[in-house]
This record gives sequence, structure tokens and C-alpha cells, in this order.
Amino acid sequence: MTRIVVLTGAGISAESGLGTFRDVGGLWSQYDLEEVATPQGFARNPRLVHDFYNARRANARAALPNAGHAALARLGAAMGDDLTLVTQNIDGLHEAAGSTGVIHMHGEIDIALCGACGARWTAPDEMAPEDACPDCARPATRPDIVWFGEMPYHMEEIGARLARADLFVAIGTSGEVYPAAGFVDEARRTGARTLEINLEPSRGRFDRVIAGPATEAVPAWVAEVIGAG
Ligand code: APR
Repeated sequence: MTRIVVLTGAGISAESGLGTFRDVGGLWSQYDLEEVATPQGFARNPRLVHDFYNARRANARAALPNAGHAALARLGAAMGDDLTLVTQNIDGLHEAAGSTGVIHMHGEIDIALCGACGARWTAPDEMAPEDACPDCARPATRPDIVWFGEMPYHMEEIGARLARADLFVAIGTSGEVYPAAGFVDEARRTGARTLEINLEPSRGRFDRVIAGPATEAVPAWVAEVIGAG
């Protein structure tokens, strides 16, 4: 069986109503990422950062998976361990659609982390700087999100999967942020074919491009791979 690694970005959740970052009107045109998505910003103003993620957590928890998430769940059910699904997204929409073993390289909005002892727990709807860690009781809680300047999660596992991939597929990501943006080059170096599925495909780094909204383009591609589910 062909081994496939899929990387998703904000574009796959766009039609579920969750904003992207760099499209017109995207999150980084509304907020200064230095203030809300860096350790330095959190140290300067933890309440502002908690409020930013409290709003994103509410949106993510109210959102429903779309046909793109559902198609990838079907693909995972058909391929088992031959499919690796890596996401840059912090929402839980892949899991809500039925995907399992999703690798969240930028963390998850539904998980809280203690910056002091490393404990993790399901995040409450609202987090605040004065919250005490349930394990060590220190007021050091943060969203379990990888901020700019921090090392993404599961990089070793991702590297091993890319090295064995026959096909690498990037869905709904602008390819602006490393290390995720380098996965296509890493996969190609070890012989994988590469496919981009995007509303606005990026400049020619992929062997093949399917242009269109994820709710149409992803089910169409999955039907090619496993037949119309
Ligand atoms: N269907 C498919 N693709 C879409 C759709 C859609 N309906 N809407 C937007 N897109 C595409 C855009 O064309 C763009 O290429 O989704 C991509 C969104 O790009 P970004 O906003 O940069 O999001 P992403 O690539 O996920 O950002 C990567 O940057 O800010 C950090 O940590 C954050 O994980 C994020 C990372």
C-alpha cells in the first residue's frame, strides 16, 4: 500500500468557520502575533494572551467538521497506519470527524499546560493568569500551543514518517511557517511525490496541484485514492 503523509493547515477548517491567519482579514491582520503568539508576549501580558486563546477555544469548540475533515477520516479508516495525518491546526475538527492518531505539531486548544511542572489537562473554557495548576498548584498555566520561537511537537515522529512516505500532501496551508513549510522538500528528498490541495496554490513547489475549496477538493482527491466513500 502507498504510504501517505498529509499536512493540514488553517485552510481545511476555513469552511467550518474558523479563520485562517494570512488570508485577507485573517487573524494576523487583526492581532499582533508578537503579542499573542510568542513566549515574550505571554510573559508581558498573560491576560491578553489567555483572552486571545479563550476566544479561539470558544470558536473551535462551537465549530463542526466539514467534508474535507470527513474525507480524511474516511482515508484514515481505509489506510490505517499507511496514512499519517499531521496538522498545524489547534482545533479538534479532525478528531471530531473521526480521524485518529492525529499529530498536532502546534499543540491543541483543548489542552492546558503547566509552564512550571509540565502537567497537561483538558482546558476549561476560560483560562486566566491566576489559575492554579491542578498538579503543582502554581499559577503557571498556559494554553498547550506551540508559539513562534518554540519547538513544534512530534518532530522526530514526523521526520520518520516523511522519510518513508510515497506521497506527501499539503492541504490548506500557505507554506509560510517552518518547519512545516519544509516538509514538502524533506519528502521529495527521500523520493516522495508531492501534491498540494489549496484554494490558492503556492508557487510551483509541488509535483501536482488541485486548486479549490477543501470541502470539494479533498473529497474528490480521497475518492481517487480509495473510491467515493
Ligand atoms: N480551502 C482550501 N484552502 C483554503 C481555504 C479553503 N476553503 N481557505 C483558505 N485556504 C488556504 C489559503 O489559500 C492559504 O494557503 O489556506 C491557507 C491558509 O494559510 P495560513 O492562514 O497561513 O494558515 P497556515 O498555513 O495553517 O499557517 C501555518 O502559521 O500562524 C501560524 O501556527 C500558525 O499553524 C499556523 C501556521
